[in-house]
Amino acid sequence: MGKIPENILNEIQDKCDIVEIISGYISLKPAGRNFKACCPFHHEKTPSFVVSPDKQIYHCFGCNSGGNVFNFIKEYEKMDFIDAVKMLAEKTGVKLPEYRKSDDQDASIVSTIYSVNDVAANYYSNILEKISPSSEPRKYILKRGLDAAIIKKFRLGFADSSWKGLLDYLASRGIKQDTIFQAGLVTKGKENSYYDLFRNRIVFPIFDVRDRVIGFGARVMDETLPKYINSPETAVYKKGQHLYGLNIAKAGIKERNFAIITEGYLDVMTCHQYGANNAIASLGTALTTDQVRLLKRYTHNVVMLYDSDQAGEMASIRGLDLLLEEGMNVKIAALEKGHDPDSFLRKFGKEKFDVAIKRSKSLFTYKLDILNARFDSKEPESKAEIIKEMLSTIHRVKNAIVKAEYIKLLSQELSVKEDAVWEELKKIKTHSDRRTESGDRRNICQAVDMSPAEKILARLMLEDINIVKIVRDELKPSDFRNHDIRNIIEMLFSIDSQDGAIDIRRLMNSMSESVPQNVISRIVNEDMDIKDKEKNVCDCIMTIKKENRSMLLKDIQNRLSVAQKSGYEEEEKKLLEEFNELIKRRF
Ligand code: UTP
Ligand code: MN
Repeated sequence: MGKIPENILNEIQDKCDIVEIISGYISLKPAGRNFKACCPFHHEKTPSFVVSPDKQIYHCFGCNSGGNVFNFIKEYEKMDFIDAVKMLAEKTGVKLPEYRKSDDQDASIVSTIYSVNDVAANYYSNILEKISPSSEPRKYILKRGLDAAIIKKFRLGFADSSWKGLLDYLASRGIKQDTIFQAGLVTKGKENSYYDLFRNRIVFPIFDVRDRVIGFGARVMDETLPKYINSPETAVYKKGQHLYGLNIAKAGIKERNFAIITEGYLDVMTCHQYGANNAIASLGTALTTDQVRLLKRYTHNVVMLYDSDQAGEMASIRGLDLLLEEGMNVKIAALEKGHDPDSFLRKFGKEKFDVAIKRSKSLFTYKLDILNARFDSKEPESKAEIIKEMLSTIHRVKNAIVKAEYIKLLSQELSVKEDAVWEELKKIKTHSDRRTESGDRRNICQAVDMSPAEKILARLMLEDINIVKIVRDELKPSDFRNHDIRNIIEMLFSIDSQDGAIDIRRLMNSMSESVPQNVISRIVNEDMDIKDKEKNVCDCIMTIKKENRSMLLKDIQNRLSVAQKSGYEEEEKKLLEEFNELIKRRF
């Protein structure tokens, strides 16, 4: 998809007023210099949605959505960014540059597939709604205990046994066979004729986070194999890039600040029916990096809820190391033998389910328990085996302090000298480890929350370009530990001559790839107790320097203890020098 030049985006923004645009959707009430409303993006009774006419941005302090006018349209209308821009361009009479034809074709097949999928989902759910309650699919769904509300929420449907039911229906609405094929809804039979992919199955639409139907899974109602048939990959559905149910669970995940990851469609639906509204599924495969990164937008905490037959398998536990590499906190909940989340909830109810979640163990403890049960941990060779397996997990832990703590625990558990465990850890250093160790060490801290000092300083800089100039003399972008803030600072430092405040709505356009708009809108809208600006700037600079210094000292100390334990004398000497140097230097 072609990119719209920034100057065009700015021109459109100059010609429309965000207050006016948003007023077209919801009613705004004046509140001081701003306007307030109940947020259209989440349910609330007292207004926490703020629109600033000065800055031409909005922010909701309830659900943390925010941005400029494009982002509002995009979120409200559930459109692509490009479509939101097109809509406002039309409104303001700004002419958009022509797209290259192939881009436009790509874009149009993508949006066509979304809408064909949507029509198909309605087709399937209509069939389910209309058939007799005594029919097999309705009886099957009843047997699985799904209630009407949950069926509606997840848009469950039924594909009957006709070969061309969907195909004919879509064709009657003027959709080309080839398009239906590209949406993955039909397959090619003999002599290139098409027929429906899903027949005589319960149909589960798969959504992306923005509620668009991207594909389907379809289950038999008996023991026939394969149990599920799933959509093939299409222009809108790439396997391993989505999480089933995330569109519905995202609010619950944010609210509870953790996600429950299950394996299947029915697990997710049953969890939600019983009130575990933070459940999602990886859909039968091991989690991918893309899925973890997607989830990270909402939380850093996950509880894995496996089917009990899978739970003890080392292979599936090894898969979790990926979560650690992405800096997630992982816990594992175990269910009674023979149960998956779906059957467990039905048999034992939500209270017991919550207990199982509460009792979930850290990946470290969980894995160690399994290994202890498998090996006789008194034998030296078994100890070695357990340690090797544990270290393959521990060495992926990002935080040096947590890592050191685990090493200590492991050595205590197995009554082995801590030094020996460190020695073994050294042997399994991977390439990526070496890279982080020799590269910028502060990268390790990328996923940290914004410290108040960083946030206040960023706010003051966004409000006044003169403060940017002061801070630039005192700090480097790499002194800021939060990734988003660091990107904002880099951008601000690169601004040369400009006076007064920074045009936030424009900044959002130019930074759209590196920093989410709501991060910026929050920083500039949040209530901060800033009275004496000058003093605040000095205090924040000092705090950031102090924080960095103590982080650096801790880091050196950690590495020093590793070097000492491993007998790296050269390294030890170098680190000691670094340490002393840092101590001597007063900020
Ligand atoms: P399960 O076999 O655990 O199925 O597979 P389930 O969803 O719990 O279904 P019930 O309870 O037996 O009815 C977990 C997930 O793996 C994928 C599906 O996404 C399923 O939800 N799967 C499984 C397939 O894609 N194809 C299959 O043939 C089986
Ligand atoms: Mn199941």
